[in-house]
Amino acid sequence: MTKFYSIGRLAFAAVAFPALAHAEAHFDPATRTFRLDGGQTSYVFGVNSAGALQSLYWGPQLAASDTLKAVTPPDLSGFDPSSSITPQEYPGWGGPLYTEPALKLAYPDGVRDVVLTFRSGRADGNSITVEMSDIRQPLNVSLLYTIDPSTGIVGRSAIIRNETKATVRIDQAFSAAWSLPPQNDYHLHYLTGRWAAEWTLQDRALTQGATVIESRRGSTGMQANPWFAIDRAGISTEENGPVWFGALAWSGSWRISVDRDPLGDVRVAGGFNPFDFAYQLKPGESLETPVFYGGYSNQGMGGASRLLHRFEITNILPQKPEPKLRPVLYNSWEATEFAVDEKGQMALAEKAARIGVERFVMDDGWFGARNSDHAGLGDWTVNPAKFPNGLKPLIDKVHSLGMEFGLWVEPEMVNPDSELYRAHPDWVMNFPGRPRSEGRNQLVLNLARPDVRDYILRAMDDLLSKNDIQFLKWDYNRNWSEPGWPEVDSQSQPEIYVTYVKNLYGLMTELRRRHPKLEIEDCSGGAGRVDLGILSLTDQVWASDNTDPFDRLSIQDGFTHAYAPGVMMDWVTDSPNWVNNRSTSLNYRFLSAMQGGLGIGANLNKWSDAEFTDATRLVAAYKHVRKTVQQGDLYRLIRPEDPSGRFATFYVSPDKRQAVLFAFLHSSTKLDQQPAIQVRGLDPQKAYRVRPVESASGAESQTQSGAYWMGHGVEVPMTGDFQAKGLVFEGQ
Ligand code: GLA
Repeated sequence: MTKFYSIGRLAFAAVAFPALAHAEAHFDPATRTFRLDGGQTSYVFGVNSAGALQSLYWGPQLAASDTLKAVTPPDLSGFDPSSSITPQEYPGWGGPLYTEPALKLAYPDGVRDVVLTFRSGRADGNSITVEMSDIRQPLNVSLLYTIDPSTGIVGRSAIIRNETKATVRIDQAFSAAWSLPPQNDYHLHYLTGRWAAEWTLQDRALTQGATVIESRRGSTGMQANPWFAIDRAGISTEENGPVWFGALAWSGSWRISVDRDPLGDVRVAGGFNPFDFAYQLKPGESLETPVFYGGYSNQGMGGASRLLHRFEITNILPQKPEPKLRPVLYNSWEATEFAVDEKGQMALAEKAARIGVERFVMDDGWFGARNSDHAGLGDWTVNPAKFPNGLKPLIDKVHSLGMEFGLWVEPEMVNPDSELYRAHPDWVMNFPGRPRSEGRNQLVLNLARPDVRDYILRAMDDLLSKNDIQFLKWDYNRNWSEPGWPEVDSQSQPEIYVTYVKNLYGLMTELRRRHPKLEIEDCSGGAGRVDLGILSLTDQVWASDNTDPFDRLSIQDGFTHAYAPGVMMDWVTDSPNWVNNRSTSLNYRFLSAMQGGLGIGANLNKWSDAEFTDATRLVAAYKHVRKTVQQGDLYRLIRPEDPSGRFATFYVSPDKRQAVLFAFLHSSTKLDQQPAIQVRGLDPQKAYRVRPVESASGAESQTQSGAYWMGHGVEVPMTGDFQAKGLVFEGQ
């Protein structure tokens, strides 16, 4: 017997599905219902009687016997027609539709109406493909869905195919629209920032109206990141309650619109930013959107980020599913800035090797006429005054010290004062006759042009073929302006927003293919281009130019809401810090930086013997816990806004045999008590020996059960200003 249920306008009928595997995609042709199950999550949608693809369920996993069926809602009024109040998976802007469309386009005869209806669908393994078509034209859309068996994260994208006989202008192409069950208490979380202050977590009640987060800058941007999380006020906490979250895998201009309509329905839609966008889709051509990933956790924001971290490690990063651990690196930037030369870098390399650094990276200043940020970008040849014998002597030296060699590049940019720009002034994006606005004295090369793409590929390939380089720090130090592409017809010029980014991905893919051992760090003046798209081609991320270890606590806290600690590079630099003149101990700086991939960016020429000794001990301590930090489960125990002035993170290895606690105190006030810190995620039955992170001897250790450390907590007394402690938990 089939039972019918109705919750508001979401009506569904029970039809039995076959028993579920760990991850499964299923299509029931009888009810025209699709269902994805993976991790702890189910995602269900179906075809309604109007042929629209209707969202039915996204949340905790349903029983195998539970099923849903799309029921077309009736018009609510003349102002709220059925098509507009149906939560649609991929609405075209056509017919009566007042919500955010996923697709908006114009046919050459001026018709700007696209109504997508279901044609066919198939499920295969953990994927679903749905074919949709416009009601009047062979304008076809394939909707692709995949669910990850372990995390239940669903990846969604669309391929728009023009099978008409004429060119169609696409004005808006999103990857997906997500619907949440109507609730009154949703809170939206997203990340904003600016240079040297990235990764600020925003939190706002999802009241009626739209919240748009986006970049119009040509790249991902640090002003907003293409990630969101929605939880329920009063129900969801850091460790409990429902959280729906998503992240867009696109490194160009993007938009995510989170809309709560007057009926209470919540929709999240995102993809290419429609601002200044147009894509001429010729007959026979197709346009593929980026992938928009979405997931659900019932373990609060902490659970949501742990799912995302696991997903990034196993599904996104270039070395997925088991990326190598991040080596401890040294970077020359804060020590020498542009004043790099063979002798100076060799001296730094020797000192870096002494403390256990595994990868030596020479930053900006080694090429062309690059003595400041005014000249040289684009000329990827070694500066003969600084390196009279090329890079080989330095690289050999670094290798002889047992370290890998890495180099800074900024391939997509050019200084007007460069050989490249003098030879090819037409290679930058520009509108003829208009100013070419500079940012950091540089212009953006138009990577959408095949000749520019080929030049950059040649220049980088040459560098990597002629020199034994294991690592590139790939920088990108401004956003776009005047994004003209005068070599193509005026209607096609806005395609730069898509073609540029696809060529960037192609370039990195080809470089990695030609140089399989190469690793790349994603940098954009800090974290100006971090997203799941670039992360599939880069192994690690420069999280911020702000290296102050206290500021970094909140920066890193924001970062880890969306991205794994294993890709987040944090450096120990000099004190007082250049950002704010704050002085902190070497120990504090290390413990702050050890919460991700550890780097050293200090001027080692100024270090005392005692600093070398301490740093050597702390680098060794880091290596002992780095697998847990980089690939374990992160629990944010005390968040930066906590009134106690304390901050604490806890990392647990997936097998729960090791954990590490990082605790910080801003300043002690009066004689305030500091309660024990209750850790999370341990095996309650297992005994854990707890000792300071930097003392391997165990002299100060204490052994108790996981239940004790989680229930009673661990005492971490700290007094004074900018104090830090690290504790390792070793399962016995
Ligand atoms: C950017 C990066 C820095 C450094 C400089 C070099 O600002 O974020 O780490 O590489 O460029 O010019």
